Amino acid sequence: MSANYEVKGSIAVITLNNPPVNGLGHATRSGIFEGLKKALADKSVKAIVITGAGKAFSGGADIKEFNTPKSSAEPTLHTVIAALEAAEKPVVAAVHSVAMGGGLELALGCHYRVASPKAQIALPEVKLGLLPGAGGTQRLPRLVGLETALNMIVSGNPVPSEKLAGTKLFDQMIEGELMTGALAFAAKVADQRPLPRVRDIKIDYPNHEAFFQFARNSVGAVAKNFPAPRKCVDCVAAAASMKFEDGLRFERENFMTLVQTTESKALRHFFFAERAASKIPDVPEDTPKRPVNSAAIVGAGTMGGGIAMNFANAGIPVTLLEMKQEALAKGLATIRRNYENTMKRGRLKPEQVEQRMGLITGTLSYGDIKNADIAIEAVFEDMTVKETVFKTLDATMKTGAIIATNTSTLDVNKIAAFTKRPQDVIGTHFFSPANVMKLLEIVRGANTAKDVLATTMALAKKLNKTGVVSGVCDGFIGNRMIEQYSRQAGFLLEEGCLPEQVDQAIERFGFAMGPFRMIDMAGNDIGWAIRKRRYVEQPEMKYSKTADLLCEMGRYGQKTSAGWYDYKPGDRKPYPSQLVNDMIVKHSKDIGVERRKIPDQEIVERLVYALVNEAAYLLEEGIAQRASDVDMVYLTGYGFPLHRGGPMFYADTVGLFNVVTAMEKYARGRHGDFWKPAPLLARLAAEGKTFN
Ligand SMILES: NC(=O)c1ccc[n+]([C@@H]2O[C@H](COP(=O)([O-])OP(=O)(O)OC[C@H]3O[C@@H](n4cnc5c(N)ncnc54)[C@H](O)[C@@H]3O)[C@@H](O)[C@H]2O)c1
Repeated sequence: MSANYEVKGSIAVITLNNPPVNGLGHATRSGIFEGLKKALADKSVKAIVITGAGKAFSGGADIKEFNTPKSSAEPTLHTVIAALEAAEKPVVAAVHSVAMGGGLELALGCHYRVASPKAQIALPEVKLGLLPGAGGTQRLPRLVGLETALNMIVSGNPVPSEKLAGTKLFDQMIEGELMTGALAFAAKVADQRPLPRVRDIKIDYPNHEAFFQFARNSVGAVAKNFPAPRKCVDCVAAAASMKFEDGLRFERENFMTLVQTTESKALRHFFFAERAASKIPDVPEDTPKRPVNSAAIVGAGTMGGGIAMNFANAGIPVTLLEMKQEALAKGLATIRRNYENTMKRGRLKPEQVEQRMGLITGTLSYGDIKNADIAIEAVFEDMTVKETVFKTLDATMKTGAIIATNTSTLDVNKIAAFTKRPQDVIGTHFFSPANVMKLLEIVRGANTAKDVLATTMALAKKLNKTGVVSGVCDGFIGNRMIEQYSRQAGFLLEEGCLPEQVDQAIERFGFAMGPFRMIDMAGNDIGWAIRKRRYVEQPEMKYSKTADLLCEMGRYGQKTSAGWYDYKPGDRKPYPSQLVNDMIVKHSKDIGVERRKIPDQEIVERLVYALVNEAAYLLEEGIAQRASDVDMVYLTGYGFPLHRGGPMFYADTVGLFNVVTAMEKYARGRHGDFWKPAPLLARLAAEGKTFN
């Protein structure tokens, strides 16, 4: 049983003991329950203290038992809380460090609570698309007031215990040693009768209906696609208007409804996918890592500058290397401007700007970077330029330094082979803007050493990125998939869509940005260069010509104020372009395709299933380690809607059989070969299985 029991004088002490955060798994709940029974049966015990061992009072549900029968086995958290509340001897929760979710609900079921300062107090269930389901929405408002409780429950954010010191939540704040204070408090209240119960507190808030109406409006506006925040408001409102038992039942019903929603399942999937992404089957977590206390970036352009900012933000000194003084000065000035813009928005203090700039040094000489622990190359996307840079890095960098490339399309193994130390070479594929985007694809070369991989994964965390491992292939995980999505977007134009219809359909589905707005931002010339290469290397791969025609018109996107859309100087808003739309319609005519009205559902299916099918190939080839890694790439790097859980999770919710059936339908149209299901997808669909 994961709770200890001991008696100190006349006080029984139950200590939750389930590292790392005393999650309320079955054994822990049983331990509390049995401890309580023992204490109640022991005549010499006058009061009971409940606390947590180690780093937490309790972090809430035990994630190891999520979705297992143990999570709902008796005694459930409800049973334990009901028993605590009904106990005939005073029960005191001694809260420290962390009391979150079910952990806080447990404390709310006690008669008294004492706390150390600086404990993180939260009901974070909303972050998983849920609500506190063990009385939290009913008890917390009775102790801290409707407004504070509502804020905590709807945001899920932690509040330090000392900020709640003036409320009924804590009967006493204990500055010194917590257990000494808690035992003294328990002795003081040992003979107190009747015992105070949170459920008996009346909520007195005049005109609460008006308050909740206001809350519903403001929460609805920010919750967008997620139902949980609105349900949280409903439950807190129930605390104010219903009898306690009815409110508890209402909370339970809403909790059960939310557990079943796709949105909550998607958020829970994200939670687990993020943890899974950091695991590499043949690289154990205890693999020794190389120190990374200094960094060098080669190339101070768009990406190099952003990457350097990541290091400075993490407090790691970084040297930026360029070939010419002008380019270096320009790169450093852009970084400063970015920081100053953040400062103007109030998110950095002037001294922080200087402190970060102070960590970034410019140089034109490799001699100045030779001792860096890691060098990341971000020069032009050209193999001959990369060759020169990697040969020079090989000749200058100290032994053991990690040498990384930010290439988006070139072969990392070839780049590694320019050096005599391919084991030290790895791909770090940042996304633009590199100082903002969460995703970092970590490209494992054929010879990349395990400790280099482990170090780079750990570095991702330090830089506040989500690292996802990819094997070497053209485009890695994200861009290889997006190419198929872009091809479909092009075919849709030929068959009857205009850019804004495609963009709007997929944005209504929830994407941050449709394909044409996205390409206009990235630059149409980049795709053009890739297609030119493809026309030679893979002539069987068909593309719509519209994108080439667009580039021939000199419309490269936002940078030329003209792309799929028109742009006004200094304004990123896209305006439909008559010129482009005429070009698209004419092109359909030229290739003999009769344009038709294409429903939004078809647009969404064709774009999303194009991603899914390519990802199935990636999984089969071992480029992606697991389906949830693909989801992480799309959720953190490509604006895939979070409430849908990523392309693979989404396909699972649609049902893979249905996905394949839709693909068969589209195969009867143009480019039928595009829709041949990848073997893995076909197999899973036939077996009634899922990706995740
Ligand atoms: N722009 C993106 O969205 C993006 C995203 C991911 C990856 N990438 C990749 O990142 C790399 C850099 O792209 P970018 O968009 O920052 O390009 P960029 O043109 O903005 O910057 C490249 C910089 O490298 C410098 N440079 C060129 N040769 C050099 C050399 N031999 N030594 C030192 N400096 C040199 C240039 O002066 C320039 O400042 C490319 O491999 C690109 O494919 C770009």
